[in-house]
Amino acid sequence: MPLPTLRILVTGVDGQVGGALWRAGEAAGLSVLPMRRTDLDLARAEAIPDILDRAAPDLVVNCAAYTAVDKAEEEASLAFAVNAEGPGTIARWCAGRGRRLVHLSTDYVFPGNAGRPYREDDPIGPLGVYGASKAEGERLVRDAGAEHVILRTAWVYAAEGRNFLRTMLRLGRERDELNVVADQRGCPTAAGSIARAILTILGRWSDGTYHYVDAGETTWHGFAQQIFAGAAEHWGRRPVVNPITTDQYPTPARRPAYSVLDTARFQADFAFSPPAWQDSLAEVLAEVFAGQAAYGEAG
Ligand SMILES: NC(=O)c1ccc[n+]([C@@H]2O[C@H](COP(=O)([O-])OP(=O)(O)OC[C@H]3O[C@@H](n4cnc5c(N)ncnc54)[C@H](OP(=O)(O)O)[C@@H]3O)[C@@H](O)[C@H]2O)c1
Repeated sequence: MPLPTLRILVTGVDGQVGGALWRAGEAAGLSVLPMRRTDLDLARAEAIPDILDRAAPDLVVNCAAYTAVDKAEEEASLAFAVNAEGPGTIARWCAGRGRRLVHLSTDYVFPGNAGRPYREDDPIGPLGVYGASKAEGERLVRDAGAEHVILRTAWVYAAEGRNFLRTMLRLGRERDELNVVADQRGCPTAAGSIARAILTILGRWSDGTYHYVDAGETTWHGFAQQIFAGAAEHWGRRPVVNPITTDQYPTPARRPAYSVLDTARFQADFAFSPPAWQDSLAEVLAEVFAGQAAYGEAG
């Protein structure tokens, strides 16, 4: 069926990826059925089949998730309900109706002790509840038997929402010096870049598990430095970022030290290459500062 005639249900449209996909889909002339938490609550799996029957989508993209990595350690049953039972229910509905499903997952399913970027079939081994709940969601989606793509991504940020970029911009305005973890490596990835990747999947379907992140890798410290290099053009000053170790910044959830994802399979099957993470960041920073200029903020 040609893409513009498909009814594409997108969950989590108040989130970073769901919101970006909603906007990109509409801009591309697609028929998007946007679902907020109040329309479809993944924690209430029993209500999901009726909601999907009423919406009658041709295809579902599940961008909604419980993403509070540290809080998940004390809310495990909610994290598993939202990240595993809910997606499993959507996947079984898709299998029963012959509908396709794109489901988002995470680099945090990996333990982080690899010496090269993780490939799709490398063994998983989540370190925390969030990663474990997403891993269980992947398993339930695969077991449901629907045509599906599981898209693992990482270190997501956008001009809006709860993310590292926005935290750094807030702290960098207040302080001249910050300490940021320099011994966790990963791939900062803009939500808009993931939205473009999902549209590519929809147009060129190929079943399976895929990794998609922006190209290159860095640490949280490197990411922060690049953020402030861009922000400095607007602020006229550049906060100093001191590298620290994970041990010096303890958090409730353990995180992988190395969660770089290999995107070769995605690039080969979808003929689509991710942009360099620095280029995506420059685009998002331009959006942030254009928005502030429009609202008359000093930056
Ligand atoms: N953020 C990252 O760094 C990251 C990294 C790797 C993978 N991922 C994965 O990428 C996907 C998209 O993440 P994101 O960064 O866009 O997340 P996000 O910005 O945190 O958005 C998540 C959305 O899910 C919604 N949600 C939470 N609980 C829900 C529930 N019970 N029922 C329905 N909706 C619910 C939230 O609704 P409210 O707005 O109402 O709270 C929010 O709009 C997720 O699968 C995530 O696991 C994210």
